[in-house]
Amino acid sequence: MDRNARPWRSVLYIPGSKERALDKATGLPADAIIFDLEDAVAVEEKPRARDLLAQTLRGTDFGGRARIVRINGLDTAWGRDDVAAMVGVPLEAVLIPKVNSAADVQAVADLIPGADLWAMMETPLGMLNAAEIAAHPRLKGMVMGTNDLAKDLGTRFRADRLPMMTGLGLCLLAARAHGVTIVDGVYNAFKDVEGLRAECMQGRDMGFDGKTLIHPDQLAVANEVFAPSEAEIDLARRQIAAFDAAQAAGQGVAVVDGKIVENLHIVTAQATLAKAAAIAAMAG
Ligand code: COA
Ligand code: MG
Repeated sequence: MDRNARPWRSVLYIPGSKERALDKATGLPADAIIFDLEDAVAVEEKPRARDLLAQTLRGTDFGGRARIVRINGLDTAWGRDDVAAMVGVPLEAVLIPKVNSAADVQAVADLIPGADLWAMMETPLGMLNAAEIAAHPRLKGMVMGTNDLAKDLGTRFRADRLPMMTGLGLCLLAARAHGVTIVDGVYNAFKDVEGLRAECMQGRDMGFDGKTLIHPDQLAVANEVFAPSEAEIDLARRQIAAFDAAQAAGQGVAVVDGKIVENLHIVTAQATLAKAAAIAAMAG
């Protein structure tokens, strides 16, 4: 699948040590899976999880789901062995935790030639250096690590996430400036579906491609909220048709539902249809 056309609505963390969860993954409607070796895996489990994960990725067909492996940082006892174990393993990207700078990306790039890299954006320094991180030529995706960021900032949790907005906004700007995919942080209260829905909608409205998730029960909401609605798809089609007709008549603008449609709206309309097609391909 063309990675640009790939949907990233739902990005599910699965602890690399949990065999049962790994087994379930092939049946879950996730656009992507983050196989975690970092914070979801206990210290004494790290080497076993690494081996289990490498073996699982080599031997399992995950269909259209993107496979992302979150390694431990290179400043830990496990990071280098994690990267080494993933060389030659089929995966879409290696996710680096607690990225502070482009140099942190380069350090992993040197150890695993060719692999796409993603960055956890979850430290104050990472927020301030988001632009240079997103500009790294091997960097293809960013994941907001809102729990770690809240810890480092001393932020209190609020439903409106106001204290988080500067960090979220800086990373979004950086990702969009450099054509990098970006997904929002997790919603911790995994039994609170309505709270999750509200936070997904907020992230979608800000421009995130999707949301990271911690539990399978969160998949349906993220898949729904981050997909174009029927009304949006219909509007996109009508905008394109009206604009084509206007151009054929020598006009530069069209009007649809009482609103002006210019070239730039057509770019958005085409992106909406491409996303809908990618989602349909994922389901099919
Ligand atoms: N991915 C895949 N399957 C998962 C899953 C996940 N993230 N979380 C739970 N499941 C499975 C369970 O294995 C269980 O399967 P089973 O019924 O066949 O045994 C089923 O879903 C129901 O699980 P449930 O009992 O509701 O959850 P739990 O109490 O076992 O676990 C968590 C709750 C939060 C500990 C667990 O969801 C989890 O570990 N999530 C990922 C955490 C993580 O990766 N954090 C790092 C990034 S923030
Ligand atoms: Mg983290």
